[in-house]
Amino acid sequence: MFDRQASEIDKLRQELSELQSLSRDQARTMSPSFYTSDDFTALENEHVFRKEWICLGHVGEIPNPGDFFTTELAGEQLLISRGKDDAVHVLSNVCRHRGNMVETASSGNRRSFVCQYHAWTYDTDGQLKTAPLMKTAKNFDSKTCRLPNLPSEVWNNFIFVNLGGEAEPLAPQLKTLDGLLKNYHNDERNLLFNDEAVWNTNWKNLTENFMEGYHIFATHPKTLQPMTPTQLCKKVPGEERWSAYLSYYDAAYPPRGPFHEDMTEDEQNHTVMFNIFPSFVVAVAANYTLYLCLRPAGADKVAIRWGISGFKSDPNDPEVVDYIDLCKAFNGEDREKLETLQKGQNSRFYHHGPLAPDDLEGTIWDFLHYMGRTLGADRDLG
Ligand code: FES
Ligand SMILES: [Fe+2]
Repeated sequence: MFDRQASEIDKLRQELSELQSLSRDQARTMSPSFYTSDDFTALENEHVFRKEWICLGHVGEIPNPGDFFTTELAGEQLLISRGKDDAVHVLSNVCRHRGNMVETASSGNRRSFVCQYHAWTYDTDGQLKTAPLMKTAKNFDSKTCRLPNLPSEVWNNFIFVNLGGEAEPLAPQLKTLDGLLKNYHNDERNLLFNDEAVWNTNWKNLTENFMEGYHIFATHPKTLQPMTPTQLCKKVPGEERWSAYLSYYDAAYPPRGPFHEDMTEDEQNHTVMFNIFPSFVVAVAANYTLYLCLRPAGADKVAIRWGISGFKSDPNDPEVVDYIDLCKAFNGEDREKLETLQKGQNSRFYHHGPLAPDDLEGTIWDFLHYMGRTLGADRDLG
């Protein structure tokens, strides 16, 4: 059993390395077990999701002191709170007493977090405030007891965590991407909608799908194709940390707005589609931002925390409601394809296939290179 696991992982790591040595003309997909192997998913959790900067959500989910939401990443329970000091904290949501989960609600507002097991109570920044009946316990000092505060960064209103604590600071690695996004003023956009979902597909299938424009004409003939057709997709050069393409609007599509006054005409006419590796996929359109924070929930399931922000502030504005409905419609179209894709990937008759030209699937090639740099056979994973 162990040998089989080892060889499956080794084969995939070897294949990732081989892929990196191919020329762009030879670009192809990975073997299907890349998307179906439980063992490979465990490797990704350990060496990708625990080591990299992972986006957990949007600051607009916790606008006020005491606001919080909870989530899970690579088996860790996390509590994301807005402290009384107004700072964002990403805390381990595991009680320092006997290890129960502290906060069990998915979101809300609290003056303090109370573990329901023996009522140890923590401040909004994770510091222990009270521990009932513990005064005479000799090996206990409440001052040195707190929920671990994990390394986090807020970039463009998005909250990132680095569980391993050893990743290089994120923001400096995104400078070129910042240049592409500058005039869109994502930080001035208000969170208008957010939700969670689980789809029956590997996290990489959804990451790749979001990042390629090739499928738009076939998967979204009535929703996205009339707006941002496949034929107008334009890849931009990516970097170590991210990949992107521009999705241009059809000239016949009605004008959109409101735009930020800094935006050039060209910027008004396209959406910047990007992936901050491994799995934070975003569409920054002229007027709205759609983002999906993706985490594996097993080999064949992806946990999605997603949302929409924009310059408007009323989530019930009819135009906003229309946009949210449009996003739900094309997400539904993607979900259908990605869940049948996952079934197809269990086949022993499929090996791998060619990738379309750069403007259409070059971002997948970038992503596979990232996976190779991170998990390839030549990497020492310790
Ligand atoms: S486990 Fe939390 S108070 Fe005991
Ligand atoms: Fe799609």
